[in-house]
Amino acid sequence: MYKLVVPCLVLCLSSLSYAADISNGKALSAQCSACHGKDGLSRDPETPNLAGLSSLYIEKALVDYKKGVRQDRRMSLMAQGLSKSQIKDLAAWYSSFEVTVKVPEI
Ligand code: HEC
Repeated sequence: MYKLVVPCLVLCLSSLSYAADISNGKALSAQCSACHGKDGLSRDPETPNLAGLSSLYIEKALVDYKKGVRQDRRMSLMAQGLSKSQIKDLAAWYSSFEVTVKVPEI
């Protein structure tokens, strides 16, 4: 029994996990940069920055737009065209940006 269960577990788990391909994320981000900026910093006050957000947050946001849990006329359309693995790749790309912050002195 044990001999059967272990290979099955290994197979099942490896098909569940997908290692994000960050260079594919970079290539895919060409379609995002018009709004979110090439550096992940948006120049449009209605569009959020993506640079340095956590990959979990980016992934959740994109999945929510895709499912319709979160709605925005631009993002709902963008997310429709993305597969799960493309979402992971994009999340890996934008979350890898280094961001420095200067907190105002008041
Ligand atoms: C036409 C402009 C446009 C394009 C192109 C676009 N976005 Fe967006 N994106 C927006 C706007 C506007 C919002 C804010 C929407 C809202 O209020 O929910 C947003 C929100 C997001 C968020 C949520 C950020 C947060 O702080 O909650 C993510 C993640 C995101 N976009 C990723 C992407 C990715 C990845 C692409 C490329 C595949 C992309 N966007 C392409 C305009 C755009």
